Amino acid sequence: MPDLTTRLCTIKLRNPTILASGILDEDANTMQRVYHNGAAAVVTKSIGITPRDGYPNPTLIDLDYCLLNAMGLPNPGIDEYLPEIQQTVHNKIPTIASIYGATPHEFTTLATKMQSAGAHALELNLSCPHAKHYGLQIGCDKDLITHIIQAVKQAVHIPVFPKLSPNVTDIVDIATTAADAKADGIVAINTLKAMKIDLDLQRPILANAIGGLSGKALKPIGVRCVYELAEHLDIPIIGVGGILTGEDALEYIMAGATAVQIGSGIYYRQIDIFTKICSEITTWMNNHNYRNLSELIGVAHQ
Ligand SMILES: Cc1cc2nc3c(=O)[nH]c(=O)nc-3n(C[C@H](O)[C@H](O)[C@H](O)COP(=O)(O)O)c2cc1C
Repeated sequence: MPDLTTRLCTIKLRNPTILASGILDEDANTMQRVYHNGAAAVVTKSIGITPRDGYPNPTLIDLDYCLLNAMGLPNPGIDEYLPEIQQTVHNKIPTIASIYGATPHEFTTLATKMQSAGAHALELNLSCPHAKHYGLQIGCDKDLITHIIQAVKQAVHIPVFPKLSPNVTDIVDIATTAADAKADGIVAINTLKAMKIDLDLQRPILANAIGGLSGKALKPIGVRCVYELAEHLDIPIIGVGGILTGEDALEYIMAGATAVQIGSGIYYRQIDIFTKICSEITTWMNNHNYRNLSELIGVAHQ
């Protein structure tokens, strides 16, 4: 049986699959179900300082080859959410808390509270493509990225992983800024800005008009981003975008990812997609005589 374990800084993972932010992670019970279906760790929904309703429906549409969403970061706010973190941590589930804010102060407030609740690491949402003043609007500003990461790193001792967007001219430039500010790893990528028009209504379908594309169609872009990042960075990269199968995960790993996240794949292959992907990775490794997953990280660069 090949060894699928991998390590993200201080976090040892039983396999490389992690639940991506925003899918089945609004409460501890669903995150526990995901963990029991094979995920090695979970990332929470992105949580802010105050509660947010998100956008009106429609917020999610299925376009056959991808999903399009503009949820608008709905969340109950940090104080309401902390018990969910405490419960997953109590149940020994490696828990990465995703946070978003508009200023370094908001990020440090959120980071400190998440760390106190027991979160094992932080994911900084610098990449949501459809929430004004947050996410991508910050993730394009290199000075602000530096200030946020430096402030969070001073405030907490757990690993800090900024999550970056593909909606930029040069993701390597942004990631280098994050690494210089002492980020412990990079998560790549969030969704790609996109939209769909309804011909009969002659209007965009999403209530917010513009949303983020995820699922199968995103994979080649995510793999390219991870490959480019691995060429320039020496901190761990967590690959995400369009992973539906073990082969998809292996592409990201060969491009340089230490671990991968899965979101939309749950919609296509149900909650046990994590177990399915691990079993497909195992079959591939057996067929190709690999014993340790670590041997495959970044091999596409040789
Ligand atoms: C419905 C939905 C909600 C999401 N919410 C968040 C979020 O709150 N924070 C975040 O960083 N990413 C969020 N994402 C982006 C995913 O975490 C992931 O980066 C993206 O969907 C690409 O991966 P996938 O193709 O496996 O879904 C969301 C994605 C979807 C489909």
